[in-house]
Amino acid sequence: MKIKPNQHIIKNKKFVFSSPADEDAPLLAIYFKKLFHQSAKYLNFSEEYYDSEDVEKQRCFIQSINQEKSSCAIIIKHEDEIVGHLVLKNFGSERAAHRTTLAMGVLKQYHRLGLGTSLIELAQQSTDKLNIYAIELRVRDFNHAARHLYEKQQFIKVGEIQGAACVDGKFYNESLYVWNSKSFQLILEKQARSSM
Ligand SMILES: CC(C)(COP(=O)(O)OP(=O)(O)OC[C@H]1O[C@@H](n2cnc3c(N)ncnc32)[C@H](O)[C@@H]1OP(=O)(O)O)[C@@H](O)C(=O)NCCC(=O)NCCS
Repeated sequence: MKIKPNQHIIKNKKFVFSSPADEDAPLLAIYFKKLFHQSAKYLNFSEEYYDSEDVEKQRCFIQSINQEKSSCAIIIKHEDEIVGHLVLKNFGSERAAHRTTLAMGVLKQYHRLGLGTSLIELAQQSTDKLNIYAIELRVRDFNHAARHLYEKQQFIKVGEIQGAACVDGKFYNESLYVWNSKSFQLILEKQARSSM
C-alpha cells in the first residue's frame, strides 16, 4: 500500500514523508549503502551488503511493497536525498495476516531530530488502512537509541532471544518488541473475558 505524502519542517529544514516511487530507486540504492556503512552493527547485513546492489533490485522492491495490501514502505526525503526509511512487512501467512514486522533507519547526520519518532507514528497511524493489528520487531540489546524509541512509542518488550545475531563473530541478544493497535487490544481483552 502507498501512504499519502506529508511534510514536516524541523529546524527550518523540510522533510517529506512518502511511499517510494519507481523513480526513487537510484536514491534508495544510495541511501541503503550509506545507512549500512554507518549503522551495520544494528542491522541484519554487513556494511558492504548494499555496495553492489543494483538500482533494478530497488525498483522491484518498491513495486512489490507498494502493491502489497498489508505492507508499506515510507521514505523521508530532504533536498533530493533519502535520509530515512521504515518498512512494515506483512508476515504473509494466513494465520498471521494481521501482523507485520518493522525495519527502519535514519542517516546519522539526521539523528535526534524526531524523524524516527515521526516514522513510527506514521506507521502506527497506517495500521487500520493496512488492515493490520500488530507490529513486531527485534532489536539488539546494545541499540539503546532504538530501544528507547520503541518503548517511547508504546512497544512492549515480550521476550529476549539469546545470541540472536552474530556480528563480526560475536553473538548478541535481541529483544522482541510488540505493539498492538487499540482496537486489537480491545478484541483481545473481550476474548479473554468471554473465555473466563
Ligand atoms: C533508531 C533510530 C532510527 C532513531 O532515529 P532518530 O531519528 O534519531 O529518532 P528520534 O530523533 O525520533 O529520537 C527518538 C528517541 O530516541 C532518543 N535517542 C536517539 N539517539 C539516542 C541514543 N544514542 N541514545 C539514547 N537515546 C537516543 C531520542 O532522544 C529520542 O527520545 P526522546 O524523544 O525521549 O528525546 C536511529 O538511531 C537509527 O537509524 N539507528 C541505526 C539503525 C537502527 O538501529 N535501526 C533499528 C534497528 S532495530
